[in-house]
Amino acid sequence: MLRIALIGAGRMGQAIVSEIATSPDLILAGVCVREGGESAAITRLSALGVSPDVPVLSRPQDILRNADVVVDFSLPDACESVANAAGRQGIPLVCGLTGIDARGRSALRDASAHIPVLYERNMSLGIAVMQGLVRQAASVLGSDFSASIAETHHRHKRDAPSGTALQLGEVLAAGRGQPFDSVYYYDQDGTLGPPAAGDIVYSVTRQGENPGEHSVIFASDNEVLELTHRVTNRRVFAQGALRAAAWLVSQPAGYYGLSDLVA
Ligand SMILES: NC(=O)c1ccc[n+]([C@@H]2O[C@H](COP(=O)([O-])OP(=O)(O)OC[C@H]3O[C@@H](n4cnc5c(N)ncnc54)[C@H](OP(=O)(O)O)[C@@H]3O)[C@@H](O)[C@H]2O)c1
Repeated sequence: MLRIALIGAGRMGQAIVSEIATSPDLILAGVCVREGGESAAITRLSALGVSPDVPVLSRPQDILRNADVVVDFSLPDACESVANAAGRQGIPLVCGLTGIDARGRSALRDASAHIPVLYERNMSLGIAVMQGLVRQAASVLGSDFSASIAETHHRHKRDAPSGTALQLGEVLAAGRGQPFDSVYYYDQDGTLGPPAAGDIVYSVTRQGENPGEHSVIFASDNEVLELTHRVTNRRVFAQGALRAAAWLVSQPAGYYGLSDLVA
């Protein structure tokens, strides 16, 4: 039985709880929520069938004690404290957060000196495959084709462009042999002027409850190549994260992504 400590009981946290409930090899060891959010979370979790014996607490270190692995789907401000606690307590960490800052990223890197850390901004296998296709297309088509990335997510999403859209852009730029920062173009408020030739142009839509849609479009004067990935149910992220957790517990300390698991 693999004991999972969960950080965050929002949309993704609840999807993880539902997946654990249907998996005979997994058990929910505890849930960490924001301080003050414990009783609302207990109500939400008990509606999903979580036993009252499962601790719901606000300090990550308190729920890591009884866990084999921790899965973080909270929000970026929790990243550093969760990575530090997991590193100190020797508990492998799967982090699915998007929009984390430099401090969060370096906390994950530091923890990976002591424990296995898997960080992935999109836990779906389809996106892992799409990244390979984008890299290949970018390297063959080069900068003669314009490139744009369009993403759509539910209206609650806080970061933009999405972590996945940024990751696809990084792979695209790497396929062309360019530094991503030099070709990233996202004119959020219409003040940047037109993009330069070779820029990767982002567009972002927030609407309804869309769990995530990404398109990468390469275009010349005479043809258009469009690669699209559409999530139809956020269960896909929960299943990917739990598959990653089961794999991660037998890995040595280090920094991993989903591509290591599917390689
Ligand atoms: N990697 C992937 O495949 C993937 C897929 C989907 C989403 N995501 C990312 O996963 C994260 C969660 O997404 P979501 O849709 O579930 O968001 P959400 O519905 O807003 O849930 C996040 C939850 O985390 C809680 N939280 C915030 N700070 C916390 C802390 N310090 N300790 C414990 N819990 C805390 C929030 O509580 P409050 O409401 O009180 O702030 C909220 O309940 C986001 O970064 C999202 O972009 C990743």
